[in-house]
Amino acid sequence: MCGIVGYIGHQRALPILIEGLKRLEYRGYDSSGVAMLQDGKIDITRAVGRISNLEARLGLGGIETDCRQNVSTTGIAHTRWATHGGPTEKNAHPHLSWDGRVAVVHNGIIENYRALATFLERHGIRCVSETDTEVLAHLIGHCYRGNLEQAVRDALHEVQGTYGIAVVCANEPGTIVAARKGSPLIIGVGNGEYLVASDASAIVKHTTQVVYLSDGEMATVTSSGFHTTTLDAVPVTKDLHEVEFSLEEIELAGHEHFMAKEIFEQSHSLATTLRGRLDTREGQIILGGIANHARDLARAKRIIFTAQGTAWHAGIVGEYMFEDIAKIPAEVEYASEFRYRNPLVDFGTVVIAISQSGETADTLAAVREAKVKGALCLGVVNAVGSTIARESDAGVYLHCGPEIGVASTKAFTSQIAVLAMMAIQLGRRRFLSQEDAHRLVNALDRIPDQVAQVVEQSDAIRAAVESVVDRENWLFLGRGYNYPIALEGALKLKEISYIHAEGMPAAEMKHGPIALINEGMPVVFIATRGHQYDKVLSNIEEVRSRGGRIIAVATQGDAEITAKAEHVFYVPNVPEPLQPLLTVVPLQLLAYHAAVLRGCNVDKPRNLAKSVTVE
Ligand code: G6P
Repeated sequence: MCGIVGYIGHQRALPILIEGLKRLEYRGYDSSGVAMLQDGKIDITRAVGRISNLEARLGLGGIETDCRQNVSTTGIAHTRWATHGGPTEKNAHPHLSWDGRVAVVHNGIIENYRALATFLERHGIRCVSETDTEVLAHLIGHCYRGNLEQAVRDALHEVQGTYGIAVVCANEPGTIVAARKGSPLIIGVGNGEYLVASDASAIVKHTTQVVYLSDGEMATVTSSGFHTTTLDAVPVTKDLHEVEFSLEEIELAGHEHFMAKEIFEQSHSLATTLRGRLDTREGQIILGGIANHARDLARAKRIIFTAQGTAWHAGIVGEYMFEDIAKIPAEVEYASEFRYRNPLVDFGTVVIAISQSGETADTLAAVREAKVKGALCLGVVNAVGSTIARESDAGVYLHCGPEIGVASTKAFTSQIAVLAMMAIQLGRRRFLSQEDAHRLVNALDRIPDQVAQVVEQSDAIRAAVESVVDRENWLFLGRGYNYPIALEGALKLKEISYIHAEGMPAAEMKHGPIALINEGMPVVFIATRGHQYDKVLSNIEEVRSRGGRIIAVATQGDAEITAKAEHVFYVPNVPEPLQPLLTVVPLQLLAYHAAVLRGCNVDKPRNLAKSVTVE
C-alpha cells in the first residue's frame, strides 16, 4: 500500500528520502515521487514503476555521490499503490497545487473528492490527474493565507475520507505539516532532524525514537522541533516511543528474498513469541497483555475472531483451538463482512482481531464496530504501537519482528502460537485439565526447534516443485486443524507465483472441485497423523485414481504415505492443535520455490500490498 516519507533537518534530504522509499517498497507500489523545497520553490519528480526509475529521473546513479546537486534539506516522498486513477506519472504523488506553492503526499482515500473538485472548478482550479489526492493540494493552496498549518486544518475540515498526509509549502520552506485520519503516520525524532513516515522501517536507519500520531491529530514539524494538535487546534502532548526493531531485522542477512529469510527465521521468531510466556514446569501460560481481562475472557459466552488474508486463516485455527482446548463457542469472520453486516455482538462476546500490521482498514473498522457494540476487544498484533494495538482494549503482541515479505509467513506461525497460548490459558480457567495443559505447554516449547528441522527440507521441496511448477492449477486439501493450512498453502502459492490454487477441507473436494482433477494436476494433501488420517488417505486415493499428482505433508516416520504420494515432506509428531505450526512451513517453502522457479518477484508480487489500509 502507499508509503510516505518526509525529512527536515540539517542533512541533504534527497538521499534520505530515496532510502526511505526503498524501505517502503515492500508495502507494494506502482509509482513513486519526491517533492524537494529549494530556492523558494518546490521541485517535483515522479516516475512509474520501481524506485530505480525515479532515481534515473532524478539523475541519480550512485545515490550517495550523485545527488549532491540537490542540497535541499526539506522534502516529502511517496510510493503510490493505485486506487483512483491508473499507475501513471501524472497520477503519482506528490501532487502540486495549481500555483505550484503546495505539495502533498497522501495515503488513504478522499471520498468527497468529486464535490471538492467541483468546488475548486468554481474558483477556476482544474485537476489534471485522475486521483482523489490532487484536490487536497489545490484545497490547501486555496485555503493558504500565510500559515500552512492553518491552511491544512481548514482544508481537512472539508474532507471526508481517510488520510495520512505530509504537506510542504514553497512559502514556508522550513516546515512539514502532517495529519492523520485512518492512515498511520509517525514522526521520527532525530538529533536536529525529523522524519515523517507511514511506517517505521522508512526511518529506522536515522532514528528509533518516534511519536505515533492518532486519528484526528496533526503535527507541524521544523528542523528545530515539532508540535502536535488535534484537527481543531487543541494542543496534544505526545509520548516518545522507542521503535522495537533494528535495521538488521529489516535487511536480507544473506538471503535472496525477505520471504526466504522470514520462512527460515521462524524457529527464532516463534521462540521470541513464546519467550517468557510458557511455564513448562507448572504447565501454565503467562500473558501479561491480557492479564487484566482474564476473568472477562473466562466468563465470555462466545469468541469472534476477525481478520483478513493470512491472519483470517490463523483465525480459523484459533476457532478450532478455542472450541477444542478452551471449550468456548468460537467463530471467525472476515473483518470486511463483520464491519458492515450489523453482527450480533453483546457483552458476553469477546472479539479478537488478528493483524500483522495492526493497520488493515477492515480489521480496524471491525474493532471499532465491536467496541461500539460493547464487546471486549482484544488484539493479536505484530506491529507495536499500531492503530489496532492501540484501539483494542488489550492484547497480545506477536513479537516476531518486522515482516517485510508481502506474503505473510512468520507472522502467521506467531499468530497461531499466540492463539494457542490464549486457548490454553483460557482452557485452564474452564475445562482443560492440568495434565493436558502441561502436555500442550511443553509441546509448544519444543515447536521452535521442530520448525528448524522442517526448514531443512527446503532443497528437497525445491526439487519436488521443479517437476510440477509448470502446472497452472493446484489443489490444497486438509482436514481439521489442517484445513486452514490448506487455505494458507493455496494462498501463498497464488500470491507469489500467480499459479491458480484452491484450498479447502478435503471432504469438500467431492462437492465440485474433483471435476477439475485431470492427469498430472498437483494436489497437495496435509496428511499428518491425527483422528482424521484415514479419511485423508481415502481422499488421496480418490485423487490418485483420477490422475492427480500427490504431494503430501506427513508425520515423521509415516511409511504408509510414501506408497501413495509422489513427494512427501515430513513434520515431527506433535499434538493435533499444534500441527499447523509445522505443517504450514513446507507449504510456505513450496510457494517460495515455485515463485523463484517461475521467475516471479517474490517480495514484490504484482498488484499486492503488504498492508491494506484502504477498503
Ligand atoms: C494483505 C497482506 C496479507 C495479510 C493481509 C492482512 O493482504 O498481503 O499478507 O495477511 O493483508 O494483513 P494484516 O496486517 O492485518 O495481518
